[in-house]
Amino acid sequence: MTFDTQRRDLVAQAFSSCFGGLPSVWCRAPGRVDLMGSHTDYNLGAVLTLPIGRDTWIAARPNSSSEVRLHSLNLGADASFALDSNEKCPEHPWIDYIHGVAVVLQEAGLPLCGFDGVIHSTVPLRSGLSSSAALECAAATVFETLGAWSLDPVEKALLCQRAENHFVGVNCGILDQFTSCMGRQGCALLLDCHNLTSQPVTIAEGIGVVICDTKSQRQLAGSEYGERRAQCENGARLLGASALCELTHEAYISREHELPPIVAKRCRFIIEEHARVAALAAALSAGDHPAIAELTAASFHGASHLYEITSPAMHTMMAAMLAAPGVLGARQAGAGFGGCMVALVQVDQLDEFAAAVRSHYFAATAILPEIYPVSAAAGAGFL
Ligand code: GLA
Repeated sequence: MTFDTQRRDLVAQAFSSCFGGLPSVWCRAPGRVDLMGSHTDYNLGAVLTLPIGRDTWIAARPNSSSEVRLHSLNLGADASFALDSNEKCPEHPWIDYIHGVAVVLQEAGLPLCGFDGVIHSTVPLRSGLSSSAALECAAATVFETLGAWSLDPVEKALLCQRAENHFVGVNCGILDQFTSCMGRQGCALLLDCHNLTSQPVTIAEGIGVVICDTKSQRQLAGSEYGERRAQCENGARLLGASALCELTHEAYISREHELPPIVAKRCRFIIEEHARVAALAAALSAGDHPAIAELTAASFHGASHLYEITSPAMHTMMAAMLAAPGVLGARQAGAGFGGCMVALVQVDQLDEFAAAVRSHYFAATAILPEIYPVSAAAGAGFL
């Protein structure tokens, strides 16, 4: 039996014991890992992003009511909301992601039906791989299917981002939801957050992407993310730009001295990180190993000295990744502050790489990390 068949059985069984009978629709949406472009999305820059095989499933069936009733297999919890309510659920904050999607879809004039559903996710929670976006995008796909209308995937991503910004209350950019909706099997996406367009990027044969989860806590809704965002917006405003990545590298450098020192550090990182995105896309498709090593090292150096989003656990993991066999480059992922990191590794040495990182990191921290390869998966849709 394949993993997917087992997973399907598990979800179907849970559905039958919670609601009786079987689900009528199965939707899924992937998590993501960014290969380059930390915090560039809300500065309307570029990101090289990979939708991953770790995904969130919702198996659902309309219930002829105006209620959405859900069981989360991962959390072993039940919760529900009424489609005409706007109240968040402090007891089960996970349902707010779905409720938020229902609210914004209705604000957009789309008719929704109540449903019963079981959620199962292989995207680890709170680790920087966008479990929230995967849940939002899977939920939007369920509402879309049951409502018998369809949304353009970019529009769907924007509505899910809106749910997270306005209902959940996390001021994230478009990266996570765009990747989860627009993913294509087999390729990374070079995303332009200004125009909301993307181009497929094929990673050269022989290069694998490996997630290295530090298993140390991160908190996206925490003040640091909002503070970085405000500092960048302040920098852009002081330089007369509506977003930082509107400025060319040269234009920025010539006026950096006008900024307060802390703002200049943050902005310098974003401007340089934005430039590294296209460079890494080119290096990965050409299989240019020295460029991969140089660009990823510069990204982590900036994340640690300029943007200051690294943690002691991330530095230990970085040392473990760089010392392991087969590594081509490594850096932070997601918002930073702990969580997952990402390495580019020669595929014929994936096992040796994982074993070495695991034992190095464990010896230094007494925490067992999770190390696993990922590959590009399709965006939100049906199973
Ligand atoms: C989180 C946010 C994204 C993006 C990244 C950092 O994942 O949700 O919008 O800002 O952090 O690149």
